[in-house]
Amino acid sequence: MSYPSTVKIVEVGPRDGLQNEKVAVDVATKVALIKQLVNAGLSYIEAGSFVSPKWVPQMAGSDQVFLKLPADATTYAALTPNMQGLQRALECEVKEVAVFAAASEKFSQKNINCTIDESLERFAPVVSAAHESGVAVRGYISCVLGCPYEGSVTPDQVAELTDKLLAMGCYEVSLGDTIGVGTPGSTQRLLERLLQQFPADKLAVHMHDTYGQALSNILIALQHGIAVIDSSVAGLGGCPYASGASGNVATEDLVYMLDGLGIKHGVDLQALIAAGNMICAKLNRENGAKVARAFQ
Ligand code: HMG
Ligand code: MG
Repeated sequence: MSYPSTVKIVEVGPRDGLQNEKVAVDVATKVALIKQLVNAGLSYIEAGSFVSPKWVPQMAGSDQVFLKLPADATTYAALTPNMQGLQRALECEVKEVAVFAAASEKFSQKNINCTIDESLERFAPVVSAAHESGVAVRGYISCVLGCPYEGSVTPDQVAELTDKLLAMGCYEVSLGDTIGVGTPGSTQRLLERLLQQFPADKLAVHMHDTYGQALSNILIALQHGIAVIDSSVAGLGGCPYASGASGNVATEDLVYMLDGLGIKHGVDLQALIAAGNMICAKLNRENGAKVARAFQ
């Protein structure tokens, strides 16, 4: 069995994590968390999103967060669902943004209030304008292994959308198991289909852990040569438009598994655990990372 020698971890806790937490987190705490994550060695951090504050109030302060981040070598990225979002991102001099589509129509409506085709029409000018400003664009697809409203989603549906996002100019597509229903079996079937059409270096995986399958699914992705993995410190969060969805795989648990496989990732586990414990204390919640609890 071969594995990538190095993995890039995309830390989504400050965005995907905090967007779904009930306790409001102020700008200073978000910035402190992000700085701790940088100090732990994370080089790519999704630091917020420029979405409608009526839809996701937890992300309302993203402009101030970005304006307070240092200009260092870290990639601080943001979600931008439309031109208004991109405009806000450009005003904050964000260097990388992400557009987010869904593999199922009902989830697209619930999450961004439009059909899948309409979302692609909306994203095209976002991607062009971002590129004109020298901003790279990542693409997301939600519900790749199942939808909370429509149930099953086929690998062909995901392949069609992956093709469109890459053709539009996204440099990579992150495959989101938004509600964490995937298993190693369904992950394998999805990746076997996608890898017939796209190289592994165009794909990332974004596994939520609702059914406790996220690490197993990531192991399958690694075995298929995928070397970009999204995760969330302390396993924070979920998606506000996917009820019951738990947080992403915890970054601490991912790092521990990568260490066991001898895969390089650049993260200091103890510093990461400290960052997770800090934000969990602020949120008054239990740390969702099993590895963090094991070290307590
Ligand atoms: P809409 O209501 O159809 O938008 O929402 P609209 O264009 O008709 O505008 C309505 C109002 O929103 C207007 O304000 C706009 O100015 C404002 P009003 O005139 O009523 O005062 N507005 C904005 N304000 C700030 N920033 C913006 C913006 N756009 C419009 N960018 C919209 C459409 C896409 C805006 C909305 O549905 C939305 O914000 N959705 C985002 C939902 C979201 O953030 N979901 C979570 C992220 S996705 C996710 O978690 C999945 C992922 O992790 C992968 C996975 O796990 O699968 C990525
Ligand atoms: Mg997510």
